[in-house]
Amino acid sequence: MATDVAIDLGTSRTRLATDQRGVLIDEPTLVALDTSSGDVVEIGDRALALVGRLPRHVVVFRPLAEGTTVDFDVTARLISGLFERAGISKLSRARVIMSVPTVATSIERRALRQAAVRAGAKEVTLMEAPVAAAIGLGLPVQDPVGSAVAVLGAGVTEAALISLGGIVTSAARRVGGNNIEENLASLLRIRHNVVVSPAVLEELKVELGSARGRIRGHSVVVRARRISDGRPVEFEVAPELVNAAVTEVASAAERLVQECLGDAPPDLSQDVSTQGVALVGGHSQLADVAELLETSTGVSVNVAHDPGTVIVRGLAMCLEQMSNLHSLFREIDR
Ligand SMILES: Nc1ncnc2c1ncn2[C@@H]1O[C@H](COP(=O)(O)OP(=O)(O)OP(=O)(O)O)[C@@H](O)[C@H]1O
Ligand SMILES: [Mg+2]
Repeated sequence: MATDVAIDLGTSRTRLATDQRGVLIDEPTLVALDTSSGDVVEIGDRALALVGRLPRHVVVFRPLAEGTTVDFDVTARLISGLFERAGISKLSRARVIMSVPTVATSIERRALRQAAVRAGAKEVTLMEAPVAAAIGLGLPVQDPVGSAVAVLGAGVTEAALISLGGIVTSAARRVGGNNIEENLASLLRIRHNVVVSPAVLEELKVELGSARGRIRGHSVVVRARRISDGRPVEFEVAPELVNAAVTEVASAAERLVQECLGDAPPDLSQDVSTQGVALVGGHSQLADVAELLETSTGVSVNVAHDPGTVIVRGLAMCLEQMSNLHSLFREIDR
């Protein structure tokens, strides 16, 4: 029997779920590639474990940037590898539902679709991420009521107001949580002449970063490499430095949510003032982000439970509906 699979392919993580079994895979969107043979060496968590330990001819590659495919062949191999890891046979000709950022162009949408088809999908349905998020949160998306959602991801930030099953207003930009690490890496390189590993950059963000520039703790000593002579050194990172890397990204989220709500028709604005705005996506776990958005919008803002998997869970809920509809079609056929 065909398996129905929900896929949320993100810049930083890829998630797979089915309506029966829930979230099956939540792994980094990474592929280790042998550049001499073109073979895939490892994917996901196992590819991440190889970072920094690889021979010269193997590179760890992110097949997605800013929420969309940069290499659909590698993306297809990632998806089929993750299918296999989740115990979904390639031969099952799965029916797939995938999320796509609202900012994705038609070419990017086609590439995403083709990647899933190449990985073995029989049918691919795309759903815009904020809609999938609202469904995953159990919001009344089909009703004539405004539901506001902001998706704060690694490569894309988007806010949308949904009513009667569709997006009424939205605002999105290709900027997200990963830009904080990029900014921090530049600050460390330019101001302090050191480089640190991507994992350390993320830890610094999670431990010390605040969307409102609040000092959350003491400086942290990290292992770094001095650029001038290449020597390993210990370097003390102050919370102020991390917050300097956060500011621009946090204000982008602030502006997008304001823009989306500012365009809303009056009745729906009223709904948002009573219901508030729900935050999903891994980057919504950044300290003080909900407080920042509450101050700038004047409505209540809440981070969803397990915000990173809300979209894939929403997609999986749609699969259930889709299979119900398919059984209706079969009834009519008889
Ligand atoms: N506790 C935390 N504090 C701050 N940031 C966090 C935390 N946990 C995860 N993140 C960040 O969340 C981001 C990942 O979020 P998510 O998994 O929603 O992204 P994605 O779906 O891969 O990206 P996109 O949808 O933008 O393509 C990363 O930038 C990660 O560093
Ligand atoms: Mg995402």
